[in-house]
Amino acid sequence: MTTKFIQITFSFALMVTLVQCNQQKAKNTNNQTVISQDSLIKKGAYLVTILGCNDCHSPKRMSAHGPELIPEMMLSGYQSTNQLPPMPTDALKNGWSLFYPDLTAAVGPWGVSFAGNLTPDETGIGSWSLEQFKIAITKGKMKGLEDGRPLLPPMPWQNYAYMMDEDVAAIYAYLRSVPPVKNVVPANIPPSPVK
Ligand code: HEC
Repeated sequence: MTTKFIQITFSFALMVTLVQCNQQKAKNTNNQTVISQDSLIKKGAYLVTILGCNDCHSPKRMSAHGPELIPEMMLSGYQSTNQLPPMPTDALKNGWSLFYPDLTAAVGPWGVSFAGNLTPDETGIGSWSLEQFKIAITKGKMKGLEDGRPLLPPMPWQNYAYMMDEDVAAIYAYLRSVPPVKNVVPANIPPSPVK
């Protein structure tokens, strides 16, 4: 009897929880399902983590366990205060491509590319529209402008080309919610003939 009661109480609690979860999704006037801003941001945080945006866009410091993120600089790209080490011309001549130690810059046959500032500061994506953001990551266009130059390696935009609109919107919502970091990322350096 008591077990039965516990079972019923448990099922009821589960139902309430499921209903509550469902309430995060509501219908808009066109009867389309929309998710709350909070759920959108959480989904965006999840996508940014599993898609590895931090690998290249977040400055890191070396720790005993290898490179670790610097929380207050998260997603702010290659730091303008960094000094690039001398170019490894021998390695480049031999066909190597190389990363800056925290992976926010890379050099190869395309020259030097610097990962952008994805925080909502004006020096990042603060003034970008969702449409611009979508063009940048799904069509690989600088600043998300249709006539912008093609984004260079190692930005893996080709992997994101088929991203669903709702995922692009979630990533955008999350990036707009992180603390803004002032950092003007330098322009790319075109390849110079290696002697
Ligand atoms: C392997 C490294 C790498 C990964 C992973 C990566 N990026 Fe990038 N990203 C770059 C680099 C480098 C650039 C600059 C390319 C250039 O200058 O052409 C860039 C550029 C961008 C730009 C354009 C910035 C501008 O000012 O126009 C956006 C937006 C962007 N990345 C978003 C993302 C998002 C969102 C993710 C994760 C879903 C991501 N990137 C994952 C390396 C990476």
